[in-house]
This record gives sequence, structure tokens and C-alpha cells, in this order.
Amino acid sequence: MSAHTQPTPSSAKKVRVHHLAAAKQRGEKITMLTAYDAVTATLLDAAGVDMFLVGDSIGNVMHGHTTTLPVTVDDMIPPARAVARATQRALVVVDLPFGSYEAGPEQALATGVRMMKETGVQAVKLEGGVRVAPQIRALSDAGIPVVGHLGFTPQSEHALGGHRVQGRGDEAAEALADDALAVQEAGAVAVVLEMVPVDVAERITEILRIPTIGIGAGARCDGQVLVWTDMAGMTEWAPRFAKRYAELGRALTAAATEYVEDVKKGTFPDADHSFLE
Ligand code: KIV
Repeated sequence: MSAHTQPTPSSAKKVRVHHLAAAKQRGEKITMLTAYDAVTATLLDAAGVDMFLVGDSIGNVMHGHTTTLPVTVDDMIPPARAVARATQRALVVVDLPFGSYEAGPEQALATGVRMMKETGVQAVKLEGGVRVAPQIRALSDAGIPVVGHLGFTPQSEHALGGHRVQGRGDEAAEALADDALAVQEAGAVAVVLEMVPVDVAERITEILRIPTIGIGAGARCDGQVLVWTDMAGMTEWAPRFAKRYAELGRALTAAATEYVEDVKKGTFPDADHSFLE
């Protein structure tokens, strides 16, 4: 799946779900970033990212909420459509937001079908293990690829007592492994492990056929996912597990500051940026 050269839109070979299992078998790491709009998806796709997640983290990152709980299906559809349209290579996954699948397989299927029909993404993601296995089965049986999400699951953050590492201790680790197996047996094509101790994530990675995609779960997962704004340093604060590969937030403020100064001084627009005749 590696992008040996930076793919141009016309030469990019689409990443498909069967490539994920094949990558795990080859021991090739899978890369995933969130994306919420067309311009960012275009830039990140050119970098060779394997998977995009149109995450319900859009609630925190783009909509200014403190949790993902207020995000609705109607909130997710326009960004998912924009990312799917702009993406040539990466496999695009959309989150099923809180309240859109918990009631049971029928509700999950209705939401999944709507997402697939109205957005053009290639997979959906939902949070939970044994308790949502029937939902994963219903979606998978209908031909909708599903990515699971275990460990710290933000939609349950109040039940979990906040942002806390999950799976610590033998009993919790065992329960997490059972959840991971249930997600796999229900037909999921991959599973995100969020804020899980390294050795627990490693064990789950070993016992599963499907790839694990870690976020705050160490290097031994089959792949990694980050929220793109954390990865690119768009905000002053980011979680400890998120490495900042750039300081784009500061660069953007610096560019806007220069623009403001130029306009105030009257040095923009100059002749190069004006129609002289
Ligand atoms: O919504 C999201 O961005 C996520 C990632 C944290 C995996 O679920």
C-alpha cells in the first residue's frame, strides 16, 4: 500500500478494504488521519495517507464542542461527502455519531445505508465491542465495511469518567480482548484502539486477523491514526500521544498577521495582484 512516490490524482490506486488485511499480513504499517473537508483531504491524500477518518471529532475540532456527543448524522454528511469527493487514493471512513446506532441493528443499518448513499465513503466506524456486535454484523451483511473502535471511546466519555487509559489490569485487558474478538467475528475490517497500554494493544494485535489502528496505543499496532490538526500543530494543546509534525497553527497566524499589516499599510494589493487595464 506504500505510496512510493507522491501520487498524482490520476495515478493514485485506490486503497480498498482487502488491502488492509493484506498490509497486516505483510507487516506493512497502515496510516490514517482524520479529514473534515475537501482542501485538507486533497493535501493529505497527496502525502500517501492510506485511510481518512471523517471523525465525529469534527464536533471538537471544527464545531467548538467539548465532546463528540452533540454531533448528528446531518452534521457528518456534508464533510464526509466533501472528503470522499476530494480523495483519489485513501480509503474514506465516516463515523456513525452518538445516538445513530446504539438502539440496535436496524437503526445502525439505516444510518449506515444513508451514509453510504449520501456521501460516497467506503466504510463506517462505530464505537464499542460485544454490545454493538449485532450492529456490526447487520452492516457487514449488508455490504457496508465497518471499522470498530475500542479502548477509550469518546462517545462514552462520561461513563468512562473522562479521557482515561482503558484496559489497565488483567481483567480490563481480558474484557478488551473479548471486545476485539467480538468486533472481528461480527465482520469488522479493522479496529481502532484508543488510549490502551502498549502491551495490551500488542496482544490484541497478535490475536486478531484484522488490523488494529492505534491512537495512544503504542507502536505495535498494525497502523496509526491521528487527528490531523493535532499532527500538524494547528492548536496550542494536543494530547500527549499526538506528535506535532509541524506548527501550521502558528504559520497561519503569522500569514494572517502579515496580510492584516499589508492591508492596513496599503501595500496589498500591489500591481502584481491588481487588474491594471
Ligand atoms: O473521531 C475521531 O477522530 C476518532 C479518532 C480519535 C480515532 O474516532
